[in-house]
Amino acid sequence: ICSLPKEKGWIFSHIYKYEGFWYSARHLQGVIACQKYFLAQESDIFLVTTPKSGTTWLKAIMFTLVNRKRYPVKENHPLLNNNPHNLVPFLELEYMDNQQPDLSLSSSPRLFATHFPYFLMPNSVHDSACKIVYLCRNPKDNLVSLWHFAKKLKLQATAIHSLEEAFDMFCSGLSPCGPFWDHVLDYWNESKKNNRILFLKYEDMKEEPAVHLRRLAEFLGYPFSADEEETGMVGEILKLCSFDNLSNLDINKTDKKAYGMENKSFFRRGEVGDWKNHLSTEMTRKIDKITEQKFSEVGLVL
Ligand code: A3P
Repeated sequence: ICSLPKEKGWIFSHIYKYEGFWYSARHLQGVIACQKYFLAQESDIFLVTTPKSGTTWLKAIMFTLVNRKRYPVKENHPLLNNNPHNLVPFLELEYMDNQQPDLSLSSSPRLFATHFPYFLMPNSVHDSACKIVYLCRNPKDNLVSLWHFAKKLKLQATAIHSLEEAFDMFCSGLSPCGPFWDHVLDYWNESKKNNRILFLKYEDMKEEPAVHLRRLAEFLGYPFSADEEETGMVGEILKLCSFDNLSNLDINKTDKKAYGMENKSFFRRGEVGDWKNHLSTEMTRKIDKITEQKFSEVGLVL
């Protein structure tokens, strides 16, 4: 473990490197305790991202999908009164501050989000049959989203950087739960040999949401029945979980918090390509080159 001081701390006052990846102190405490104590169940489902890759969206979709018998998509659906982060916990964050969390959860199967790289997942996850959904996002949009998020969190004694500084840190691998590219590669490579992992891209989900929702449903073992197809269930879930719907709900407009962050801070633009409004030609060239160097060999395009 090595640490970097506040001025290099990205959105945290300090940031620590553990096994090649960067965490805030509290996050790291959760990571280590979780690795030690978490016991996976065969039916568990994990939703994995780097921060700002669309975790909130996928939490909403997966919660709605696997619980649709218990919570039909209609007026009193839990998503209408709860931020997605309060319905699907972040696994390692449940272990922060040396807590021994009650993970019985209200949903069945248990759904957990995490930013763990695959190789750092608790052993019980590696040894079990549980399923893992990985969602990644174009690094340029990921960075821009992260930078805006960091600015919103400035109340939390954070180190605020200009976009240029944030860009340089991100490109050198220094981002929360990063290096971004190593995180994505870890799951991409594993997904090629492990059919318990479904690898999704934010951009694909935006372009053809119904296609990927059906894929997700099949993968998780909750396929849509002919009846559901006929009554438009796919469209209903997508509408409920859409950026426009979720971001305009009262519960997501208040200053109520999930994991210490205001509900509204998880919704900004929800679009593909906002990086074009922020990155210079030179920045674009530099980050594209890194992506090309890291991903071309394994055939991944982001
Ligand atoms: P932008 O900052 O580009 O708008 P995370 O959930 O991992 O923290 O990622 C946040 C990003 O996902 C933000 O991106 C946010 O606006 C976007 N987002 C949140 N809810 C979404 C939804 N329902 N559909 C699409 N994007 C969503």
